[in-house]
Amino acid sequence: MKVLIVGSGGREHALAWKLAQSPKLSELHAAPGNPGIAALGNCHPVRADDGEGLLTLAHSLAIDLVVVGPEVPLVAGVADQLRHAGIAVFGPGREAAMLEGSKTFAKELMIAAGVPTAKELTEPAWPCVVKADGLAAGKGVFVCPDAVSLARALKEVEAFPGKPVFEELLVGEELSMLVLAAGEETLALAPAQDFKRAYDGDQGPNTGGMGSYSPVPGIDPDEVETILEQVHRPVLAELNDRGHPFIGVLYAGLMRTDEGIKVLEFNVRFGDPETQAIVPRIEGDLLEALASAANGELEDVKLDVSDEACVTVVLAAGDYPASSDKGSPISGIAEAEATGAVVFHAGTAMRGEALVTSGGRVLNVSALGPTIETARERAYAACEKISWEGMRYRTDIALEAARREAGENA
Ligand code: AMP
Ligand code: GLY
Repeated sequence: MKVLIVGSGGREHALAWKLAQSPKLSELHAAPGNPGIAALGNCHPVRADDGEGLLTLAHSLAIDLVVVGPEVPLVAGVADQLRHAGIAVFGPGREAAMLEGSKTFAKELMIAAGVPTAKELTEPAWPCVVKADGLAAGKGVFVCPDAVSLARALKEVEAFPGKPVFEELLVGEELSMLVLAAGEETLALAPAQDFKRAYDGDQGPNTGGMGSYSPVPGIDPDEVETILEQVHRPVLAELNDRGHPFIGVLYAGLMRTDEGIKVLEFNVRFGDPETQAIVPRIEGDLLEALASAANGELEDVKLDVSDEACVTVVLAAGDYPASSDKGSPISGIAEAEATGAVVFHAGTAMRGEALVTSGGRVLNVSALGPTIETARERAYAACEKISWEGMRYRTDIALEAARREAGENA
């Protein structure tokens, strides 16, 4: 099978890395890809949101399957464009992608489908959460426990187009539940958690995600099934009823509250950086699963998952999320990988022969281990091998989970 991956981040590198292990893969291509992906396949200078360009590329390479990574092309309708031209695509069409593209649409659909979610407020009043309506790369959400943070949020949200959404502030443990979907058929991926805040101890602004781990202690297969019944399947059925069957990853960002599971948000794609912790644990053939989903058949597909845990640490620019880093030489990746960890490229570029920074989130370091504690020790040991001027990372990724896991095993 000839596969084209659309996107250029750590998520796409993790997908490319896994798909490259499939015996069914004959050629791997990416648009535009990144230096990490270039070591596994061919990268083409076509932007992820250039539907025409992707269509021409897919035809010229006789691509059998396109896997779309980021939300922007999905919300722009790139999957429809390719599918209409007869190309198999893993990724939802524009209408279904509005689940991520518009918070207002997502709320309306959740209410219609009877899915538990945070209550919407007509007026901002603390404690509450202020959300920009459209796509904001994880940076358009402001959690406001008091009057000062609310006043600041109302000012900051003015920078985003459209009317903001206000909702009740939920308290609890967060969980990312990603599910492969084809119409109303589902195949759950392993539960994961990501770390949205910029600094240790969940301080600082929201980011695209500073790290992740999988599995999540306390979420057993029965709990996963309950979540799919309460959240994913009703949403997929509602989309189907509206004539927009969903093909791709339906990712629910959930809060485990005292009143049960509630949805914070939907994404219509693989999570970043959750994917970098979920994918290394997959033992089955992910390519076969994605190709089956793209053809609308998931019923007979299984994906074995390792018992090992995986922890992913994001190495970011010093000022991320306020600004990114460009052109700083990066060293130590080979040394990090020699420890057994995998290093995914998220924001890198080649300058001549040198690998340099090119983004806010630059690299993702993932390590497996028999426990979360061991996986995190291995991930951090690998991080210490890598450096560039200004590199920064959180030091508490999966720390609490490792403690909880140790408590459960005691
Ligand atoms: P979202 O993009 O909607 O997932 O929001 C990003 C992050 O903001 C979430 O991962 C939560 O940490 C936080 N958040 C969003 N909505 C709420 C809510 N209703 N209550 C508490 N925290 C929230
Ligand atoms: N990790 C959050 C996201 O992918 O949106």
